[in-house]
Amino acid sequence: MSFSASNGMNHIIQAQQFTPEFIKKIFDLANHLEMNHETPLKGKIMATLFYEPSTRTRFSFESAMLRLGGQVITTENAREFSSAAKGETLEDSIRVVSNYADVIVMRHFEEGAAERASRVASVPVINAGDGKGQHPTQALLDLYTINRELGGIDGITIAMAGDLKYGRTIRSLSYLLGKYKNVKIIFVSPEALRVGTDIKEYLKRHNTTYHETEKLEEVLPSLDVLYQTRIQKERFSDPAEYEKLKGCYQLTPALADRLPKHAIIMHPLPRVDEISPLVDASPKALYFKQTYYGLLVRMALLKFVLTPSSFRDEE
Ligand code: ASP
Ligand code: CP
Repeated sequence: MSFSASNGMNHIIQAQQFTPEFIKKIFDLANHLEMNHETPLKGKIMATLFYEPSTRTRFSFESAMLRLGGQVITTENAREFSSAAKGETLEDSIRVVSNYADVIVMRHFEEGAAERASRVASVPVINAGDGKGQHPTQALLDLYTINRELGGIDGITIAMAGDLKYGRTIRSLSYLLGKYKNVKIIFVSPEALRVGTDIKEYLKRHNTTYHETEKLEEVLPSLDVLYQTRIQKERFSDPAEYEKLKGCYQLTPALADRLPKHAIIMHPLPRVDEISPLVDASPKALYFKQTYYGLLVRMALLKFVLTPSSFRDEE
C-alpha cells in the first residue's frame, strides 16, 4: 500500500495516498467499530495540535480515541497557546510532541505543513487540514457517507459548489473520486473561485469526467450528490473580494426540491448561509449524519495508524 512515508510510518497527509483497496478496508473497519465496542488503543496517547479553529475534526478525533480506549492531550489554539507564540518552529514543536504522544493529529494554516511535520516526527502525523491544501480524513468520511447512503461510488454524478479555490475538502474529495469508475464531477463556482488546475489535470489523467459551471440551479436535477461548501472568508487577502462573493449560492427548500428524490445533500460544515436551515428537515439533508460517519471513519483510521499489524491481520 502506498501510504507509508520513507521513515516507515503511516502518516496520513494527502488523499492521493489511499488506494481503493485500503479505503474499502477502512470502511469495513468503520462498520465493524460501529457495532462492536472495543478498546484496542488502551495505553496509547493522541496529541491534537490545532493552529486553526475546528469543531468537528478535533472533537471527532478525540472522541474516536477515547472510545477506543486511548487518551488525549490537546491544544485547541496552538497559534496562541503553544510555544509557536514565542517563535518556536513547527519542526521543533513536532519533534518535542513526538516524545509525548503516539500519534499527532494536526491542523495548520499553511499548505504543506503536515508534510513538513511528517518529515521530522517520530510518530505518525495525521493531516487535519493544511491551509488551502488538503483535508484527507474529511474526504474519507465524505466518501464513506456516499458509499453508505447511495450503496456505492462508481458511476455517481456529484456537484461540488461554492468556494472551489480555497476549499481544501473539495480538493481532497476530488483526488479520491478520481480513483473510482465513471464518476462525473460538476464544479459549480463563480469565475473567481474556480477549482485549481492541479485538480483538473489530475482528473484528466485519471479519465474522470468533469465540467465547470456557474449555474447551480441547472445541474440539480442530474445529481446523486450535492456537496455544498462555505466561502472560505479567512483565506481572502482582500475583504472586499469576500464581500462580493459571499452568499453566491444559497440552497433553499425550493432548490433542494429540484434534486432527484434519491439524491443527498452534503456539506463538510460549518455552514454560514449556503444551506438554509429550512433544508435541514429534508430527508436529503445528510450533513449532520455525515459528522457521525466521520467519528466512525476516524476510529478506523486511528486503529489502523496505531495498530497497523492488527490491520494487516484483518487483510
Ligand atoms: N471544516 C472544513 C475545513 O476545515 C470546511 C470549512 O471550514 O469550510 O476545511
Ligand atoms: N469539517 C470540518 O473540518 O469541520 P471543523 O472545521 O469544525 O473541524
